[in-house]
Amino acid sequence: MNGRTIRINRVPATITAILLTIALVYFLNFQKDERPAIYGMLRSDNNVNLRKMLIAAIQAAQRGGLEVVDVMHSRQLKERSKGKTAEGVNDPFTDADGRSHCVMKQGLQRIFPRVRIFSEEDKEHCKDAYSFDLDPTVLHETAKVPDMSVTAQDVTVWVDPLDATKEFTEELYEYVTTMVCVAVAGRPVIGVIHSPFSGQTAWAWVGQSRSEYLQELHQMPRLNSDQPIITVSRSHAAAVKNVARNVFGANVSLLTAAGAGYKVLQVVANNATAYLHTSIIKKWDICAGEAILRALGGAMTTLDGERIQYGPHDSSVNTGGLLASLDKHEEYMELISKYRTTHNGKLS
Ligand SMILES: *[C@@H]1O[C@H](CO)[C@@H](O)[C@H](O)[C@H]1NC(C)=O
Ligand SMILES: *[C@@H]1O[C@H](CO)[C@@H](O)[C@H](O)[C@H]1NC(C)=O
Repeated sequence: MNGRTIRINRVPATITAILLTIALVYFLNFQKDERPAIYGMLRSDNNVNLRKMLIAAIQAAQRGGLEVVDVMHSRQLKERSKGKTAEGVNDPFTDADGRSHCVMKQGLQRIFPRVRIFSEEDKEHCKDAYSFDLDPTVLHETAKVPDMSVTAQDVTVWVDPLDATKEFTEELYEYVTTMVCVAVAGRPVIGVIHSPFSGQTAWAWVGQSRSEYLQELHQMPRLNSDQPIITVSRSHAAAVKNVARNVFGANVSLLTAAGAGYKVLQVVANNATAYLHTSIIKKWDICAGEAILRALGGAMTTLDGERIQYGPHDSSVNTGGLLASLDKHEEYMELISKYRTTHNGKLS
């Protein structure tokens, strides 16, 4: 009797043991593969770490720059026109713009899938899915970069894959930059201006840290002239030169240059006391420059003295003109508004 009973009970016990083993194996696998993703969806993915964003922004600008240099060496620019700029000059596009865009935009988007990224060449179709891994060695050892998190929805990234394309096609390489800007709640917080042909990267994180190169530029000797030196665009020089002379007087010195990134660096390096722009300008041209100037205590505003908004729902075009300076911003804004009051609000 007894032996029979034991034999009958062994079968369900074995089945239970097998089921438990399957459940255990399943649970362990599930825990290993599925849980982080589910956890991420529930919470951590909604935050972005600004230290990581800084590293990625520097890498993106430098990697985009390598594409630009590569296309230059290949001599296959495949230049075509995107139409005309607001100033009525040809707006060229080359393979360098396209390749740099794909590398910068896709590289950043893969690391930060939830962050809104605007690039000058968003219309460009990218063939390959480009990616890179974060490399903290792009920062110098003494860089002060805290782990600071913000909500992904508050972040907007502005990418300029190749600033001064026209000059690039004219082999005026010193004007060429690649730029990345990270705005939080519509304000520029991290700015990267990379010069691919010198290999130098100026970056700043407002209130935290800046690159050694930017630090070097910023320590260039002060101008020993009291007269304003205004850097303006060489592509629509006539109109803006007029405004500069009207506002600052006939003695004003004008430094004609190309590329918004390059012009900001002229201000940083004390080659100019301000950067003036009077026609429309795109925000990927100016966001990184504003972050860098603000990090150094400077300012960039419209010609009405208003802050420029870089949020995800703001227009990509700034229509209010531009005045950027390290330490003359208030003084120059006063000259602008004084001129306007006596000339029916007009500058030209
Ligand atoms: C312009 O420069 C000349 C010569 O340096 C000087 O005599 C004149 O006073 C200056 N004018 C203004 C408006 O600063
Ligand atoms: C500032 O001007 C000097 C002299 O023209 C030039 O050598 C230097 O490269 C300029 N700085 C920058 C950042 O372009």
